[in-house]
Amino acid sequence: MYYNKNNTPDSMQKTLEFLKSGEAVSGEIISQSLGVSRNAVWKQVQNLKALGFEIVAERNVGYRLLTDQSHLPDRLYPFLVFPFLRTKKLGNAIFWEMEISSTNDKATELAKTGAEEGTIVLAETQSKGRGRRGRSWESATSKGIYLSAILRPQRPLAQSSPYTFLGAYAVVRVLEDYGLKAFIKWPNDVYVAEKKISGVLTELSAIGQDIGHIVLGIGLNVNQKEFSPGVPATSLSLELNRNLQRAEVLAKLLLYLEEGYERLKKDTKWLIELTREYSLLLGKEVVVTGGMELEGTAIDIADDGALLVRVKENIQEEKVVKVWAGDVSVRQKQR
Ligand code: BTN
Repeated sequence: MYYNKNNTPDSMQKTLEFLKSGEAVSGEIISQSLGVSRNAVWKQVQNLKALGFEIVAERNVGYRLLTDQSHLPDRLYPFLVFPFLRTKKLGNAIFWEMEISSTNDKATELAKTGAEEGTIVLAETQSKGRGRRGRSWESATSKGIYLSAILRPQRPLAQSSPYTFLGAYAVVRVLEDYGLKAFIKWPNDVYVAEKKISGVLTELSAIGQDIGHIVLGIGLNVNQKEFSPGVPATSLSLELNRNLQRAEVLAKLLLYLEEGYERLKKDTKWLIELTREYSLLLGKEVVVTGGMELEGTAIDIADDGALLVRVKENIQEEKVVKVWAGDVSVRQKQR
């Protein structure tokens, strides 16, 4: 399902507009107002039903949509998301699918075929949701937000590192809006109460020495109540003890992403500073694995985005190592 906010609503959306108050509306009125046949209205009602809307046909009265939250489909259909959006460009075009292998893969495909900047891909679930370093991303159906945004910053490749931190920034701001204190585990995992709530996978293409496009993939746990054993994880719902409307959370996320993206066009230092300020690692004893193998104290995030780790060479000597990639975890204290 590919929708553009600026396009004229299609017949299905228009039919939904008539029904969304929850009052019964006669097929005759809808057909006359839209200038289509009664049968065409009936077809659109069937299309809406296929998408999970519960519509009852009341004899001699008309169609009535069940509008309370428990009856509305818990889906991020573009036309249900648009009313929440406050962005200028980000999310104006939405590609949605019930199930997709990975929203990052779909966004990459769309970016390569010329999708405009700001296009986003959403899925209710992913069969091959990917994380950094070959990990998978658990994508329980309609529980989390699985989002990939296409960005096209006009920048040399050498200046791409700030974009790695943009996703975590936006997530942290959203969590703050819900009263949660979040931490960024370098480079771009977000933790609440020592549990992972979000992960970001930034993938970019090059055109010569410049960035071609960036696919910014964000997984945010919203209404999950449980996770597979492994990395300790949490969700907004577990932290707040209530379910959230994912369209509202998504709209906040897109707003902060766009705001951060616009700020990055003028200056990038603020984002490195913020990543330091919210860091889960700085000042802690850490273990780096995957590529580089070392142990030491995380002391800073350099202006170029690398994690600086102070490592003991021997009893007297220490050196500072720049970590560009890898898995970093806080060393568990010996009991
Ligand atoms: C990580 O924790 O290493 C990053 C996880 C990123 C997951 C998101 S979900 C939406 C997008 N599509 C993917 O396949 N991955 C990212």
